Amino acid sequence: MTNPTSPTNERPLDMIIFGGGGDLAARKLLPALYMAHTHCNLPADTRILAIGRKDWTREDYLKNFMEKQSRPFIDANAFDAQQWDKFLALFDYVRVDVENPEDFKRLAEASRDGAQRVFYLSTSPELFTTICDNLAAAGIVDDHARVVLEKPLGHDLASARAINDAVGKRFKEEQIYRIDHYLGKETVQNLMVLRFGNAIFGPLWQAPYIKSVQITVSETVGVGSRAGFYDHTGALRDMVQNHLLQLLCIVAMEPPVSLDPDAVRDEKLKVLKSLRPMSVADIARDTVRGQYAAGAVGGEPVKGYLQEENVPADSRAETFVALRAHINNWRWANVPFFLRTGKRMQTRKSEIVIDFADLPFSIIPSGPRNYGNRLIITLQPEESIQLQMLAKEPGSGMQMLPVNLNLDLQQAMTQRRAEAYERLLIDVIRGRLTHFMRRDELEAAWAWVEPILNGWKELGDKPRGYTAGTFGPAASSALMARENLAWAEEA
Ligand code: BG6
Repeated sequence: MTNPTSPTNERPLDMIIFGGGGDLAARKLLPALYMAHTHCNLPADTRILAIGRKDWTREDYLKNFMEKQSRPFIDANAFDAQQWDKFLALFDYVRVDVENPEDFKRLAEASRDGAQRVFYLSTSPELFTTICDNLAAAGIVDDHARVVLEKPLGHDLASARAINDAVGKRFKEEQIYRIDHYLGKETVQNLMVLRFGNAIFGPLWQAPYIKSVQITVSETVGVGSRAGFYDHTGALRDMVQNHLLQLLCIVAMEPPVSLDPDAVRDEKLKVLKSLRPMSVADIARDTVRGQYAAGAVGGEPVKGYLQEENVPADSRAETFVALRAHINNWRWANVPFFLRTGKRMQTRKSEIVIDFADLPFSIIPSGPRNYGNRLIITLQPEESIQLQMLAKEPGSGMQMLPVNLNLDLQQAMTQRRAEAYERLLIDVIRGRLTHFMRRDELEAAWAWVEPILNGWKELGDKPRGYTAGTFGPAASSALMARENLAWAEEA
């Protein structure tokens, strides 16, 4: 059965996954494709070509990788043995050493003439240039082809540009899908609806009615087995440069003229370009770097970062960042944006907090002096919107108490929520670019982040320790307290 709203590509789809035997494929991509398959969101004539270096047959791949490594990541409630068999039937495995142009001829033979080819590059970005060059040399990059690029897209501005140049030689910009999986989250997409589908926020969504904005993405997990990557990346590159700045863009952008990809991306780009560059003095004052020390998360003792596997004993990688950013435009003049992310924190939450301006004058003597309403948009783990306001305490007198207008979106809308990767893969298949980063956006984000990395080096900034299971170093609270503000959990 085909989903009535399913893609009607006139071409058969060849989804070609480089890194087909890798961790991301096992944990995210293949489960997402499985879900898309069971909900009839793959075109009828789809094939999935997994590309890897191992000398495997198709059967080896299905048995050793799909069954053993990827299937455990499919939600048991969503698993159906018959559907799984049908899904496996879509697969082929092609052994390719990406450095060897000859191997790409084998790939060219395996891919069907006239197919809509999607090349998913889930490999180390150092290989992107070679892969794109070899694909082009094998004659399988045509005008219909699409390429999906996984992060990290560079470790600074120059390396991001080099990747963009190399991929841009073989694919036009509208064929390039740069993934930031936060843009695929239902709740992040819902932020646009909240802002642009509800007129009441329009007039208030600016200075001076908004006093400050907080964006927090805290995780309880540690670095796990990813130290090889993480230790030379750190939280600023891993989370702030992409996910947090994208959230900031959606909170701060002007209403786009439509939902067309370039209309939305033009507005996000303007925000990134308006970020006030930070001087070394700003960096010393307005940023906090942290690294977790041993502690307890959810009642379980956990190691410190330096004791994690493959972490050098003298590592200075930050696992926590808090910073104060400014957007230099009319809407946001003098409104600080506080961004914060960290591993091994007390709770897992992604949250945007909008602090509205204080009451200009209180005619109720018993009321708090400096009360400002607060809008809390929780993106994960639950999806909710709360508006904090004051109400009169029942009884005599005019005692005021803070109360919440509370919208639990999970309860209000019980429909299945697709995982970010599923949604984004369907977008790629349907050719929808709105939720992918354009080249100039990526580079503007690096242009703002890179001076912070350099500033930290110049300042010799050793990360401050924080106990695992807390909300980061004390300096993070001090960053807010300096302006008589507080992180949401401290207020
Ligand atoms: C990834 C980072 O991009 O996002 C990880 O590389 C991080 O370090 C992850 O754990 C967080 O994603 P999510 O969807 O779990 O919030």
